[in-house]
Amino acid sequence: MILITGGAGYIGSHCALEMTRAGYDCVVLDNLSEGHAKAVQTDRFCRSDLADIDETREVFKQYPVEAVIHFAASCYVGESAVNPQKYYRNNVVNTLNLLQAMIENDVKKIVFSSTCATYGNPEYTPIDEKHPQNPINTYGKTKLMIETILEDFDSAYGLKYMALRYFNASGADNQANIGESHNPETHLIPLVLEVAAGKRELIKIFGDDYDTPDGTCIRDYIHVNDLSTAHRLALEKLFSGADSNFYNLGTGKGVSVKEVIDISGHVTGKTIRKEIVQRRPGDPPVLFADNKKAKLDLGWSPEYNEINDIISTAWNWEQNRQY
Ligand code: UFG
Repeated sequence: MILITGGAGYIGSHCALEMTRAGYDCVVLDNLSEGHAKAVQTDRFCRSDLADIDETREVFKQYPVEAVIHFAASCYVGESAVNPQKYYRNNVVNTLNLLQAMIENDVKKIVFSSTCATYGNPEYTPIDEKHPQNPINTYGKTKLMIETILEDFDSAYGLKYMALRYFNASGADNQANIGESHNPETHLIPLVLEVAAGKRELIKIFGDDYDTPDGTCIRDYIHVNDLSTAHRLALEKLFSGADSNFYNLGTGKGVSVKEVIDISGHVTGKTIRKEIVQRRPGDPPVLFADNKKAKLDLGWSPEYNEINDIISTAWNWEQNRQY
């Protein structure tokens, strides 16, 4: 049985779907503080909170957990600056509770949802896994702390982990009708599509004076189903006896904010009103992945390599969303 924490969230629900489709027995643990009951893709669901070590232990008592895929976390960069306490608790302390329950139950395999935000301002691009990790926001710092904790738990207790550093998760699985639904929504693609759907008047572009070809920030948008496949492959690598490791997950291609807006206009056939506003603090100008290591070691390859295909799946979700 695979325990998926945060399995009612955006990426966790897609990963639960991937694992279920591949034939794994899974149980989702989620406190539904950010996740959605309708997003749960498994028959087994525990509405439990990692903040409560006894509730967490109970899940391990109830199910024969062999490995964990750990998504449960707070994930807003902006909020992490004004409420760091929440981030250190929800991300770091709660992960320690999870790890404690794992060690007590002799569960020694975990795939961890990390982020390219652990790298901070890029010293070079594309960013490979050797790039120094100097996070510039609390969110990134908490994820890096967890990577460090995992390393120490490997040395001390033989816990084997895969830390997956995502670039910009995007898109949706249209067959299962699950997708991105944050409250508040802060991510570019869903906001642009809300403008296309007439739910929002315009999209604010946070700065067009960056040192990039069109002046707007460049990001690497990776489809959530491609992220999910990588989690399955990483876990299977652990099952085959591999040592702990860490991987970037991105397409390796950079797309600008203006390009996302223009392509969304084409995909939806709608006019998308935009306004240039000030830069958002903490946004690096260019972030995109060197994904060779994941390709080579995990045999992973993203299926969605074109941003218009990714946006199409997000648009389909926006038009049919249930939550
Ligand atoms: N942007 C706008 N207007 C908006 C929203 C975003 O111009 O209304 C721009 C941002 O400035 C940025 C780009 O669109 O240049 C993408 O922004 P997102 O907020 O969608 O994503 P981020 O790149 O800021 O954040 C993502 C993940 C984080 C992760 C981070 C790592 O959502 O969890 O990548 O850098 F930490």
